[in-house]
Amino acid sequence: MIGLTEEIYGKYWKNRIQDAKNIVATSEKHLRLQSELIKSPPRISEIEYNGYPIGILRLDELHPEISGNKWFKLKYNLAQAQAEEKNAILTFGGAYSNHIAATAASCKLAGFKSIGIIRGEKTASNNPTLSAAQQNGMQLLFVDREQYRRKTETQYLQALQQQFPEAYIVPEGGDNELGQKGCEEILSPETRDYTSAYCAFGTGATFKGIAKSLLPHQKLTAINVLKFDAVSDFKNATINNNYHFGGYAKHTQELLDFKSWFEITYKISLDYVYNSKLFFAVFDLINQQKINKNEKLLIIHCGGLQGNKGYAERNKL
Ligand SMILES: Cc1ncc(COP(=O)(O)O)c(C=O)c1O
Repeated sequence: MIGLTEEIYGKYWKNRIQDAKNIVATSEKHLRLQSELIKSPPRISEIEYNGYPIGILRLDELHPEISGNKWFKLKYNLAQAQAEEKNAILTFGGAYSNHIAATAASCKLAGFKSIGIIRGEKTASNNPTLSAAQQNGMQLLFVDREQYRRKTETQYLQALQQQFPEAYIVPEGGDNELGQKGCEEILSPETRDYTSAYCAFGTGATFKGIAKSLLPHQKLTAINVLKFDAVSDFKNATINNNYHFGGYAKHTQELLDFKSWFEITYKISLDYVYNSKLFFAVFDLINQQKINKNEKLLIIHCGGLQGNKGYAERNKL
């Protein structure tokens, strides 16, 4: 731990747990879930590449089923659902979605019913992601791509709310204000000495939350895994759109080779969709000498490993 006394560190986590207790004061189940997830801070693995020391914030290790940024995006949404006396969570995702998997697991632990609106055909329902979601009690509703595209339309949401009046609706990827608010807690006193943080960009909720929580001496770069030019509204946080490898859930042989090399070299697993692109990008920027040697680098590993089995199966890897 750099530059921190045990006392400050202990206080931080005590406050975090107290915070959680306040949010969910009336629910035993929530309390158990919160304390299970935050009983220890995420580890920082220190690695080295090309003479650059790099810290890796291991959110991937947070929980076997609710790993990475997922709990941060869900925690205040679940608390809000409880405050509104809803007993179910309804959310949206693709057939291999990390968010769907994590929502189902969180709801099971927290005692909510869960409903997943899934983009695509029912034939996907026995893939590893959706099988796990169903085992965790999630009710799946398959919709075609056209209907799925309506996921943010007021009329469509109102119709869903009418169909499931007991449900609190969380947008795709947990990307709402409460999701972003949770992501403001990803950086902690443990990470304060790092000056340059890197995360993957999907819906952007994680990026926005972290950007809002940066200390004055810190900056953030997000690697966009989708093929469109995302723009940052923040002064100390930028988005790099050059590492999408053909688009969302696409890859090249170079990316696959990097993933294998990284995993063998550092004994840390990466997912195909987000973190392989993120780590590739940072290593490539180092190779191109685009990262200043004086920066203290932190890469935020946002998990997603549950999706690897399904990704490898459908891409015949
Ligand atoms: C493993 C993983 N990393 C990164 C991200 C990107 O997060 P966001 O959608 O908040 O930009 C996601 C998507 O939620 C994810 O599942």
